[in-house]
Amino acid sequence: MARLTGRRIVLGITGSISAYKAAEVVRGLIQEEADVRVTMTKEAMHFIGPMTFTALTGHPVAIEQFPPHGQPGEEHIDLTIWADVIAVVPATGNIIGKMANGLADDLLSTVLLTCDVPCCLAPAMNFRMLGNPAVQANMDVLRNRGYHVIESAYGPLANGEIGEGRLAAPDQIVEAIAILADSRRDLAGRRVLISAGPTAEPIDPVRFITNRSSGKMGFSIARMAAQRGASVTLVAGPTNQSDPYGVTVERVKSSEDMHQTVFHHLDGQDVVIMAAAVADYRPKQTADHKIKKGAPTLILKMERTRDILKEIAQNKPPVLVGFAVETHEGLQYAKQKLIDKNLDLIVYNDITVEGAGFDVDTNIVTLLHRDGREEVLPKQLKIEIADRIMDEVVALLHTQETVLS
Ligand SMILES: Cc1cc2nc3c(=O)[nH]c(=O)nc-3n(C[C@H](O)[C@H](O)[C@H](O)COP(=O)(O)O)c2cc1C
Repeated sequence: MARLTGRRIVLGITGSISAYKAAEVVRGLIQEEADVRVTMTKEAMHFIGPMTFTALTGHPVAIEQFPPHGQPGEEHIDLTIWADVIAVVPATGNIIGKMANGLADDLLSTVLLTCDVPCCLAPAMNFRMLGNPAVQANMDVLRNRGYHVIESAYGPLANGEIGEGRLAAPDQIVEAIAILADSRRDLAGRRVLISAGPTAEPIDPVRFITNRSSGKMGFSIARMAAQRGASVTLVAGPTNQSDPYGVTVERVKSSEDMHQTVFHHLDGQDVVIMAAAVADYRPKQTADHKIKKGAPTLILKMERTRDILKEIAQNKPPVLVGFAVETHEGLQYAKQKLIDKNLDLIVYNDITVEGAGFDVDTNIVTLLHRDGREEVLPKQLKIEIADRIMDEVVALLHTQETVLS
């Protein structure tokens, strides 16, 4: 299962210069195993042809409000009934105005007026149009009516100017749609703090010691926690993973930075999941200047870093989850870590097994519970494992509330 398996998404495309990026959004949705139908305005077809979307989705693109040859002409209702989510990408100033004022003079605007499922829109326009009070007022009307606005970005615009109004990145739009399409919301109102990625311990101004963690597992957990409604803070070591949609991301470098940032955000968290591969040792001294090549050997003196998880456990949040990544005799070590660090759950990961560990999209993990239960999960996508971990987190929160009440 991917993030949108079996979910039915209607994508409405309007006449913005960025309409070509809707093709990337459709691809992203299909990669997440969504079933996608596209409807375009006539103006959108000046910018990209419907054939692209027919080829990508395997379905005809709906354009005509009044179909020829005496067909029923109920497509605006059929699409709404079919959809789990309707997304307007890109959304012109024009369609935003029509939506805010309940106008329906073509197929897409009529679909939107009929829409009774979650709906989002990703505005894209020149900053002058975006700054127009009428456009801003229309967007406020839509936000207040429960539409989700995927905010546009600051950057280079179509005419070469720099400003607000650039369509949000396609991967961010796909993530926003995934969040909207997930009806579980079983972490709504919960605060979740997650660490991810490696740390980099400086040797001198140009060198550092790091490890092979890619951050994929921790970022997947952040995505899933957000998808299920949590308010998520992610503290990430150096990694090329892009910011998950709707998550507060703090980028750090060394274990000391990670320690400080995690503790800065710790207060009031309901759930803390430490998935980062924090260095156990760091150079005792960082040279001020680049160390020159010279002697045949160089000895670096290392010192222990601070044990973030252990320090958190001293003032334990309601749910505390750790990770253990090992190459031999790991299960025993993970069980000990669960007890030593007062964890509710530990996710054990033997990286010597094919399809598990760093920098791959899949993982094979064992969940070790405080009550001694051990669950070996089959090889699956990290996002699926993240979803499974969230099931456990939700169960742990419920158990604790039952015990307390
Ligand atoms: C080259 C060109 C680029 C345009 N880009 C945008 C845009 O990015 N955003 C926008 O709101 N309107 C843009 N417009 C104006 C819209 O195409 C116009 O308002 C149109 O009526 C929108 O129709 P629709 O909302 O039914 O698709 C552009 C027009 C042209 C000619």
